[in-house]
This record gives sequence, structure tokens and C-alpha cells, in this order.
Amino acid sequence: MRLRVALVGCGAMGSALLRGWLTLSDSESRFKNIWVITPHRESAVHFLDDSRVEWFASPSSLPHSPDIIVFAVKPHLLEEILPLYKSFDSLIISVASGKPLSFYKKVLPLSHTIVRAMPNTPVEIHKGVIAFLANTTLTPDQMNMINICFKDMGFCLWVSSDNEIDKITAISGSGPAYVFYMIEAFAQGAESLGFHKEMALSLAVSTFWGSSVYAHDLKGSPAVLRKNVTSPQGTTAAALNVLETGNLHALMEAAMKAAYTRAKELRG
Ligand SMILES: NC(=O)c1ccc[n+]([C@@H]2O[C@H](COP(=O)([O-])OP(=O)(O)OC[C@H]3O[C@@H](n4cnc5c(N)ncnc54)[C@H](OP(=O)(O)O)[C@@H]3O)[C@@H](O)[C@H]2O)c1
Repeated sequence: MRLRVALVGCGAMGSALLRGWLTLSDSESRFKNIWVITPHRESAVHFLDDSRVEWFASPSSLPHSPDIIVFAVKPHLLEEILPLYKSFDSLIISVASGKPLSFYKKVLPLSHTIVRAMPNTPVEIHKGVIAFLANTTLTPDQMNMINICFKDMGFCLWVSSDNEIDKITAISGSGPAYVFYMIEAFAQGAESLGFHKEMALSLAVSTFWGSSVYAHDLKGSPAVLRKNVTSPQGTTAAALNVLETGNLHALMEAAMKAAYTRAKELRG
């Protein structure tokens, strides 16, 4: 089956998904059309070289009913935008944070199957984390469509409540920003030891990259990997002592709880 996908919104998340879809090694066999519906053509212009991608200013101009409609717009716009898609008998996927399944049931006909997805931007390079929640048991056909869209885009998991989606939002949805922030801090540390900006950033990114791939591939405990590079009284121990005194663990816990609290506030 080759899918007809409508992607509503092509900002940070929409374009990460779209680039991810188009660069899958078997993309041609998965996607027949990807119709990008967004107010400004410029948001989609980088993708229009691919003949499967077309831009539309509104859903009323779509040539067919899509198999799947993926909403990647800001949550506060959904109330206004969703009714425009009422007449399509498509599987609805929304990546919006904060809006519970009950919200979609109020705005869309009851017959619609709605899937909340919580991806993160590394889906663009097929290294994302994507959590799913559905309002009903999916049919094998619908499950197949989700697989066509998201298999190989990263680590996929299903959760069973809006509350769990809020938690995933606070961990992996927002998580890339925490990691980028830590890379920035790491690079700043390297600069403070006298390296120029560009070299400091290369040292930071390469260290994060190598260590993340190492932890991922070995599937070992990060605590064990950390201990392997920490000799008693050595240089690493001196640095870790500073991080422990600053209580990095407590800080990360507080950061995630703040994001989770905010997600719950947005849910209302
Ligand atoms: N960014 C992330 O890392 C991330 C992670 C997980 C989930 N999400 C969720 O993804 C959604 C989008 O977030 P984002 O960061 O991608 O926001 P964004 O960068 O602001 O993108 C929003 C997009 O929506 C478009 N848009 C505005 N009005 C529209 C309309 N009437 N019809 C169709 N498209 C319209 C905008 O077009 P113009 O720019 O042309 O106005 C823009 O392309 C949010 O609900 C967010 O919660 C984001």
C-alpha cells in the first residue's frame, strides 16, 4: 500500500517528519503523495522538488481524500482548523502537545479514529522517539498505515493515557532541547579552557555523539560506563564531583517535572 498523506503544518515538527519520510530508503514504496497544507508556500518550498510533495493553502483544494491526515500545528489553532477536515474519512494523527483525546472527540465526528503521536525532531534523521495513543483499538489496516508512516523513524512505543503522553512530552518530546542545552554548556566549558568557539563546539558535539552511540550500542548501564572512565582521585572524578555538588540529577528531575506540569496545564 502506498499512502496518500496530508501534512497540516510544516514548521519545526512538520518539516522534521516530512524530511524523515522523504529520506527513508524505501520512501517511494511507502508514500504515493504527501500534500502539505500550510498558509505559506515558502514553508514547503524546500520539499517541492520531490514530485510526490505538493503544497495547498487549504484542504478544500486537495485532489483526493487522504489516507492519513497528520496535524502538526500549534495546539491553540486546532479548534479552528480541525472542523475544516471533518468531511474526510481519514485516519487522524495529531502531534500537538497538551490536547487530550477528548478534545478531538468534541470537534470531530465520533466515527473518526484519532491517534495522538508525540514525536521529537530527530525523526528527521530516523533517530526519533515516537509515542502513540489511540481513541479506539486500531484495525489491522490502520495499524499498517501507522507502520508505513513511522516504522524506521525511531524508537516507537504505545501508551495508554493522555497522562502518559504528557510524561513522554516532558521526556523525549522536549528532550532534544535539554540535550542541545547541555551541548551548549559543554562547549562553553571547552571555551573557558581556551579553545576557540568552533573547536569547542566540535569537541562537545563529538563527545556527546560518541558517548550516546556507545551507550546505545552497548545497551549497558550508563552508570557502569561512567565508572569505567572514572579512576579514583583522577581527572574525571574531579569533574564529576563538581556535577554532583551542583546536583545535576535533581536539576534534571525538576526540569522534567516542570515540563510535565506545563503539559498538564495545557491539557486543562
Ligand atoms: N517542535 C517540536 O519539537 C515538537 C515536538 C513534539 C510535538 N510538537 C507539536 O507539533 C506542533 C507544531 O509545533 P512546531 O514546533 O512545529 O510549530 P511551528 O514551527 O510554529 O509550526 C507550525 C506550523 O503550522 C502552520 N500553520 C499555521 N496556521 C495554519 C493553518 N491554518 N493550517 C495549516 N498550517 C498552519 C505554520 O505555518 P506558517 O509558518 O506558514 O504560519 C507552521 O508551518 C505543536 O502542536 C507541538 O505541540 C512539536
